Amino acid sequence: MSSPNIVANKQLIDEQQESIPQHIAIIMDGNGRWAQQRGKSRVVGHKSGVESVRATVTTARKLGVKALTLFAFSSENWQRPEKEVSVLMDLFMFVLTREVKRLHKNDIKFQVIGDLSRFSAKLQRKIAESQSLTVNNTSMVLSVAANYGGRWDIANAAKIVTQQVLNNELSVDDIDENSLHSHICLANLPELDLLIRTGGDYRISNFLLWQAAYAELYFTETLWPDFDEQQLKKAISTFSQRERRFGLTGEQIKST
Ligand code: IPE
Ligand code: IPE
Ligand code: MG
Repeated sequence: MSSPNIVANKQLIDEQQESIPQHIAIIMDGNGRWAQQRGKSRVVGHKSGVESVRATVTTARKLGVKALTLFAFSSENWQRPEKEVSVLMDLFMFVLTREVKRLHKNDIKFQVIGDLSRFSAKLQRKIAESQSLTVNNTSMVLSVAANYGGRWDIANAAKIVTQQVLNNELSVDDIDENSLHSHICLANLPELDLLIRTGGDYRISNFLLWQAAYAELYFTETLWPDFDEQQLKKAISTFSQRERRFGLTGEQIKST
């Protein structure tokens, strides 16, 4: 039998774990402004932002977060100047090449969510390789949203379900939240607990529309390249003080 001390410590760890969100998503915004404030071109901000990505992944893994989802490129970001889009694509390729071994070493499963068909064949290959290298890792899932849009995600799930109906695999009456949910990105991960947006704007920008139904929202003025371990811990600490009611009353929550 374990000594009372070990039991007490274990309880403490469990309690601490309880306040750590299982699934965090981040809208990494503010790279351009960060660079412009320094009289530099926007792409300098994107490059600096890579360091914040690395720090955030490391901290999340260390704290025991099970899933981290990062918004890297939205379906609307293609409308930016061609030069900026092409730098972002090159940066994605470069970072994948450089970082994926480190992810693997840290037992992190890597995946990309979004419509990949618009990326170059080379980038699509790199993504596929990175995903297959890390597919069996279990400590944390890192999902990068690229050419992702929340509306695209929902429309895509509707398309799959419709095809199942046409194939007589599903009846129209069986279409419900659960059947749709299973085809929405990240369905196999814990529910989204905490959605962070850096950069001082208060909007979702077509990110995880379905998944954020009951996520706690956290907005910070901090621009993404300045987001570090302390900032993530601050967001988590705020999260742990929130009362999540999921439609129930405060009294009901306290009595469970
Ligand atoms: C977020 O930073 C990164 C991407 C959208 C790719 P921004 O590039 O949007 O930076 P701001 O919002 O213009 O400062
Ligand atoms: C959201 O940021 C997309 C990413 C962080 C990748 P944007 O900068 O594109 O969002 P808006 O345009 O301010 O809504
Ligand atoms: Mg922005």
